[in-house]
Amino acid sequence: MAQLWGGRFTKETDAQVYAFNASIDFDKRLYRQDIEGSVAHATMLQRQGILTEPERQAIVDGLRSILADVESGKLSIDSKYEDIHSFVEANLIDRIGDAGKKLHTGRSRNDQVALDMRLYTRDQVAAVDELLKDLLGVILQTMEENLETYMPGFTHLQKAQPTTLAHHYGAYFEMFKRDRLRMKDIYTRMNYCPLGAGALAGTTYPLDREMTAELLGFAGPTLNSMDSVSDRDYLIEFLAALSTVMMHLSRFSEEIIIWNSNEYQFVEIDDAYSTGSSIMPQKKNPDIAELVRGKTGRVYGALMSLLTTMKGIPLAYNKDMQEDKEMAFDAMDTVQDCLALFTGMLATMKFKKDRMAASAMNGFTNATDAADYLVGKGVPFRDAHGIIGRLVLYCIDRNTSIDALSLEELKSISDRFEDDIYDAISLKTCVEKRLTIGAPGPDAMKKVIAIHKAYLEDETDIFA
Ligand code: ARG
Repeated sequence: MAQLWGGRFTKETDAQVYAFNASIDFDKRLYRQDIEGSVAHATMLQRQGILTEPERQAIVDGLRSILADVESGKLSIDSKYEDIHSFVEANLIDRIGDAGKKLHTGRSRNDQVALDMRLYTRDQVAAVDELLKDLLGVILQTMEENLETYMPGFTHLQKAQPTTLAHHYGAYFEMFKRDRLRMKDIYTRMNYCPLGAGALAGTTYPLDREMTAELLGFAGPTLNSMDSVSDRDYLIEFLAALSTVMMHLSRFSEEIIIWNSNEYQFVEIDDAYSTGSSIMPQKKNPDIAELVRGKTGRVYGALMSLLTTMKGIPLAYNKDMQEDKEMAFDAMDTVQDCLALFTGMLATMKFKKDRMAASAMNGFTNATDAADYLVGKGVPFRDAHGIIGRLVLYCIDRNTSIDALSLEELKSISDRFEDDIYDAISLKTCVEKRLTIGAPGPDAMKKVIAIHKAYLEDETDIFA
């Protein structure tokens, strides 16, 4: 296969070298971006008087016909080309002849690939944001429906204080909302166009970089041509943000796996999102949650890989940077699959509210409230803590709970206990009294839910 750069060479590339060097097998997914960038470049070249109008027309028509044929399956992106840029250019020249040979005027594959990758990533950022928004919608709905669904809150995976399902889900709402804010932030920072940077030092043609930037929907051109061709920061930022999304999904998955276990039975994952065992007929396994948890590793891997690839690269373009693609693509695909499946699993999952409430009632989740009750009766908190500690021991010895003790038994430990203790440490009271913003009390939760609703409904779409 003749290379774009064959002129200076007297020998064919060694076949193994060719295969090692080629990127077509993975950069073929950039075909749309490559064509879109070329259409903008040709349009600008004509407006600047570098191409004639008939040349521009032939190039744009040729590029559009290549795009249509690739999308319809009529033209397949063949591995015999070195990369997607060579594929498009060679096909263009085949189709329109000499005019096609002028497309690469004032351009290098270095700024071309920088553009293609940025355009592709920009769409991916928007797509991930959309999936995060869907997930937040499902989380918010569960919150609204479960303001009084009691469950234990844990620290050290030990029952700590009672809370509600709405409150527990609210923690994940915060995480995925921050993930969306990261997407927005990355999008804003990356939305500058590297096209026109040339190989590294700009070009001698009177290119209008503002024009191509505008045609391609960027906020403006990048301001240093060396940085333009060698910057992959935006991709690193995106992979870091995707890693954080996966970390959140993985934590949530872990909780669902625990909740779905035979011991907990807080939830039941829908049959459509579970799988069975080939040997154990009783099994219904939470494979989707486990796979989401498991796939977190490969997304972190993509981030580590690119950080490591970039760390020793002198300015400007070096071939190392071709390694930015495979793992990053894999990470983008993985996160989108995980988000879509996880959202579906969550939307169909059933809660066993009685078991959740029963679990919140035992395990002394009301011990803090019992201590607070004594504080209300004038006992200093540190003393109250000690009294309730002894009370807990008393209960453990008798295999019972604080609220099941008689007033006499309670009084035998502290004479400050009165009849109103039972109401003070009921599950409902324990939750309802937690009224500071951010706490599980239903009135506090309602305020937060209203904020979340406004956020999901009113947000102006910066990705449009
Ligand atoms: N396949 C290359 C990449 O992905 C395209 C840029 C090639 N530039 C070059 N000077 N060889 O980075």
